Amino acid sequence: MPTIKEILQTMDYGPAPESTKEAQAWLDQHGRRFGLFIDNAWTEGSETFASNNPADGSELAQVAQATSQDVDRAVEAARRAQPGWVAMGGHGRAKVMYSIARLLQKHSRLFAVLETLDNGKTIRETRDADLPLAARHFYHHAGWAQLQSEEFADYRAVGVVGQIVPWNFPVLMLAWKIAPALAAGNTIVFKPAEYTSLTALLFAEICQQAGVPAGVVNIVTGDGRVGEAIVNHPGIDKLAFTGSTEVGRIIRKATAGSGKKLSLELGGKSPFIVFDDADLDAAVEGLVDSIWFNQGQVCCAGSRLLVQESVYDRFIAKVKVRMQNLRVGSPLDKSNDIGALVDPVQQQRIHGLVEAARAEGCEIWQPSCEAPVAGSWYLPTLITGASTSAAVAQTEIFGPVLVAMSFRTPGEAVQLANNTVYGLAACVWSESISLALDVAPQIKAGVVWINTANQFDAACGFGGYKESGFGREGGKEGMYEYLTPLSEDARPAAPIVAEKGKVKSSESGSPFAVDRTAKLYIGGKQARPDGAYSRAINGANGAFLADVGEGNRKDIRNAVEAAHKAAGWSKATAHNRAQVLYYIAENLAIRAEEFAARLAAMTGVRDPQREVAASIERLFYWAAWCDKYDGAAHQPPMHGITVALNEPVGVIGVICPNENPLLGFISLVAPALALGNRVVAVPSEAYPLSATDLYQVLDTSDLPGGALNIVTGSADELARTLATHGDIDAVWRHDGSAEGCAEVERLSSETLKRTWVGGGKGRDWFDAKQACGRVVLQHASQVKNVWIPYGV
Ligand code: NAI
Repeated sequence: MPTIKEILQTMDYGPAPESTKEAQAWLDQHGRRFGLFIDNAWTEGSETFASNNPADGSELAQVAQATSQDVDRAVEAARRAQPGWVAMGGHGRAKVMYSIARLLQKHSRLFAVLETLDNGKTIRETRDADLPLAARHFYHHAGWAQLQSEEFADYRAVGVVGQIVPWNFPVLMLAWKIAPALAAGNTIVFKPAEYTSLTALLFAEICQQAGVPAGVVNIVTGDGRVGEAIVNHPGIDKLAFTGSTEVGRIIRKATAGSGKKLSLELGGKSPFIVFDDADLDAAVEGLVDSIWFNQGQVCCAGSRLLVQESVYDRFIAKVKVRMQNLRVGSPLDKSNDIGALVDPVQQQRIHGLVEAARAEGCEIWQPSCEAPVAGSWYLPTLITGASTSAAVAQTEIFGPVLVAMSFRTPGEAVQLANNTVYGLAACVWSESISLALDVAPQIKAGVVWINTANQFDAACGFGGYKESGFGREGGKEGMYEYLTPLSEDARPAAPIVAEKGKVKSSESGSPFAVDRTAKLYIGGKQARPDGAYSRAINGANGAFLADVGEGNRKDIRNAVEAAHKAAGWSKATAHNRAQVLYYIAENLAIRAEEFAARLAAMTGVRDPQREVAASIERLFYWAAWCDKYDGAAHQPPMHGITVALNEPVGVIGVICPNENPLLGFISLVAPALALGNRVVAVPSEAYPLSATDLYQVLDTSDLPGGALNIVTGSADELARTLATHGDIDAVWRHDGSAEGCAEVERLSSETLKRTWVGGGKGRDWFDAKQACGRVVLQHASQVKNVWIPYGV
């Protein structure tokens, strides 16, 4: 007698096709030819290209390829419209955005069908995931527009933003980008991906119906050349990009030194970790959502399956059974799980990677179903036997291909999970909440889903670590990406030159005169510079004060190594870090007179005591923040919570300002340390002695060796080394060198480090608004959102 389960498995589904009548009528109504949406009007493009249905290869419509003149017009329209959009006020914008959300819901079926036709993804997903989430983004962000004056009182809109999205979630990515930008008072030049422009064009009509003022949203279609024109346009104040890491790198380089704000949401190779105590059947369902959702064309797809050895065989067997039951076929059929790939190019790319793995001796397994003949398809695929360094284990395949490996211990799972240049997301499956919550913080990824997968919500930040990019989308975190602190506008146009007092010709200001060669400070010890060279530092009166070590590439390498060994600092409690910073302040206070004398001798500043006192206060300030920069517990519409943790960025290289050599140094180094980062600091090139005098203060303040390393020398040369170093997570440069800052941004593109640069402007380091606050805390941390469902 067969069991019910066996009977169910033999039953097949009848076809349940979704009608395309409305979508076809909409295309016909436009003569299957679309222009550009600029300044609330449709303009013909001179050149067009075909947008095809990937499920059968048929042409849906001709879409305009925008020219750089079109991009100029779109940027100009957005610029003209921006003051008016801001002047509408938060409530005015909220009403328009609410209206967009309502219209998206009203027309959601048309959007869903059109998206399925244009992209090849299943109607189940466009109808049940993409569209409800897109509408939710506009509702949620209408709320931020309403609350802007209260919650972001010290910020203004950035201005005109350029937004470039990929083809995997066309309308959802549009909502992720456009909703926060509008809420904050920005105007927009938006470019959809060339494969999937249609829902963005339908959205333009929604904007018209919702009363979005002319020029606030402009939609230009076309390929990468249009993207390039937006990226390089001088009228763009901020760029938000989602797409491949390769193009992300190009954009980082192209915008270096331009002052454009930038957020990048790039690729991933996310681990899906199954511990032996996991609910294996639930984990299999999670895996289906993780890697076969949207044919695996998802930046955060769980494409690397890591299973604990003791349950590996059992789990793989269950996965194969489930794969066998996945229904591949027409994306418009409501009972199909797997639709078409976006384009034959993707099919060929995936095929190439899988066949290379086969040639390397990996085992390739696919269910015995067949894909339709016309269009671009790829069957769900499981690869086993790959080495950890194999191309399929490291490259973003961006298709329905899963690579499985085993691990023995939780430690090994973490190591394997982090063995990638990416850091977008991860899944952890275990019935032991303490194990899951122990592992989650150790994984270097912006999102961790515990016993669930691919959950998204407008209230929760999403974005990457490492080469998966920087910046967050969603929630309050995401709003900051579209805002500029008012304190930035208050910054002086050039570095401030301190008011000079009289310096006696004999004054060295040095209680340290006995040893007049300051070494470097690496791993908690004074170290001779590798090159055995030093440079002389003369005082304001021209007299020799001391030599400082001339740090080089090797010294930076040693300092970075020491910083990595000091990982304990990142794990120390916030209370403990605060105590160390207070202690540094206390020990500095004891020697306040010496430090004041040194400042006077070096810079000739009239009131050096003021700078020392401000430095002590600044240490107190950042010590105070250590245990108060809490994360958040978001409550998305699921049973559970999403905990947003503020984690340290890692190892930060800091090029300190020449303005206020003591206060500037402390204002940058202290917040980085406060949030648990380890630092390689390059003190003021002109006035390094206030930093080298700190060695003894640091030695007596319980700061663990390696948490702060100090390398003196040429700011340009050392900045270059920091920006190109593979093991540094962020570089800050604030010495007023516009060219130097541009170079840091350009060179950091190789490993997509986060950067915080001051450009050629100055900063009043005494002014708390310019030198303190959340903006600095945000630079010193990265948010990880951990999703923890319960009661399900
Ligand atoms: P892509 O990164 O080239 O395209 C994304 C968007 O950027 C599109 O709108 C495109 O027109 C635009 N673009 C292309 N070149 C540009 C440039 N130089 N400047 C400005 N904008 C530019 O991604 P593509 O070629 O569609 O896919 C290639 C691979 O990238 C995929 O196989 C996948 O591995 C990865 N990818 C990752 C995505 C993610 O969300 N992580 C999304 C799309 C692709």
